[in-house]
Amino acid sequence: MTDIAPLLEFLPCRTPQAWIGWALDNETLLLIDHAHCEKKAASTALNLMFRYVDRPELLDNLSQLAREELLHFEQVVGLMRERGIRYDHLSPSRYAGALRAEVRTSEPQRLVDTLIVGALIEARSCERFAALAPHVDAELGLYYRYLLKSESRHFEDYLNLARRYAEEPIDARVAFFKEKERALIESPDSEFRFHSGTPEAVNS
Ligand SMILES: [Fe+2]
Ligand SMILES: [Fe+2]
Repeated sequence: MTDIAPLLEFLPCRTPQAWIGWALDNETLLLIDHAHCEKKAASTALNLMFRYVDRPELLDNLSQLAREELLHFEQVVGLMRERGIRYDHLSPSRYAGALRAEVRTSEPQRLVDTLIVGALIEARSCERFAALAPHVDAELGLYYRYLLKSESRHFEDYLNLARRYAEEPIDARVAFFKEKERALIESPDSEFRFHSGTPEAVNS
């Protein structure tokens, strides 16, 4: 069993119970968005590899990460096919865009912030898989538990890279992004996605 204690310590809050209920009511959307997230995770890593070709540790870590994310993508799409779920376009949740909007524009701050955001997204994904695993069917639960291992390593990789390339301690910046992340996770959100906030109250 993967030890997720370090990432629970890193994250500013746990996934609210209301999101878990929302996810169980939207299992098809959950799987489709999950597939998109895996593909985006690979794409983010590849983009960093193109932008920072002179950083050997980044290239090594993110090349492996991108391959793992694409493997996850293939696995999720395979699961969807077995279940007769059609893969389709889906608008992204507000989550990643809102975090990336806070990334500074000068270097190396841009790189460091992007890596911190990457660490948060990976850690949150991992925490959500762990939160969902006991509630979904056996096959999906097993798969989510399998994902915990690589996703928890991805969070560490991103955080270590942020520390390596920063010119100063990153604690204040990490704390800043954690608060943004907490707000996105704990506040009402208009549509269900893997990284959504809580369901908006329905007016009756
Ligand atoms: Fe993944
Ligand atoms: Fe990942």
